[in-house]
Amino acid sequence: MRNRTVAANWKMNMPPKETKEFLDKLLPEIRETDLNLIICAPFVSIQTVVDCLKGTKIHVGAQNMYFEDRGAYTGEISPVMLKEIGVSHVILGHSERRKYFGETNEIVNKKIIKALEHGLVPMACCGESLKIRGDGLAKQYIHRQIMEMLQGVRKEDVSKCIFSYEPIWAIGTGIGATKEQAEEGCMEIRRCIESMYGSETSNNVTVLYGGSVNSSNAHTIFPIQDIDGGLLGTAGLSMDFARVVKIREEYK
Ligand code: 13P
Repeated sequence: MRNRTVAANWKMNMPPKETKEFLDKLLPEIRETDLNLIICAPFVSIQTVVDCLKGTKIHVGAQNMYFEDRGAYTGEISPVMLKEIGVSHVILGHSERRKYFGETNEIVNKKIIKALEHGLVPMACCGESLKIRGDGLAKQYIHRQIMEMLQGVRKEDVSKCIFSYEPIWAIGTGIGATKEQAEEGCMEIRRCIESMYGSETSNNVTVLYGGSVNSSNAHTIFPIQDIDGGLLGTAGLSMDFARVVKIREEYK
């Protein structure tokens, strides 16, 4: 379903103690909103986030998971474990996981299918490097990522997913994509989903933009029809998150 969304990807930040201190400050600023808010914390801080968010409608997300329920997979975390402690969303296929941990579309595909099997909402990420953009291949690249990540995913499950266009060159740089670039990437996600599942599905999925979103540029991104919200890295670690939420509320 299409939802106005603001999500935070804390990455490898916010140990449990800091998490509690931060959420104590942040929560009064965001708890009344009717937006779809998701806080994606590192595994060891998830329980603290769950406790702090009790009684609110804010969702708790993880940043990764493995594609098996249990077994001899040293160091991995399964969807069963995430569900049990109150996680509802999981970021999958973030470019940092692809770059540093060798995740491929095939692996992400397995994870998406497994997350859906357990009723977790996959937040599937895609986005091109500067080189691919420079070569004029950004759209084809996004298209292929989405196609491969969604192999074997049923139509009724696709609309449960959230997709995020995160051009690698815009992540952590402070220089976000322009309005046109963000729109183009998000539209390409919808176009690919349309070619696989039809326009009703593609019009109904939530598509976010991520890459240096903050309260200074959110006004240019959120009015765009094809973009339902933002996935915030850096700005999700400060009170700027609350300012971005307020800006998202301004646009229907
Ligand atoms: P920044 O907002 O720090 O650019 O990070 C974006 C991101 O990677 C969200 O997943």
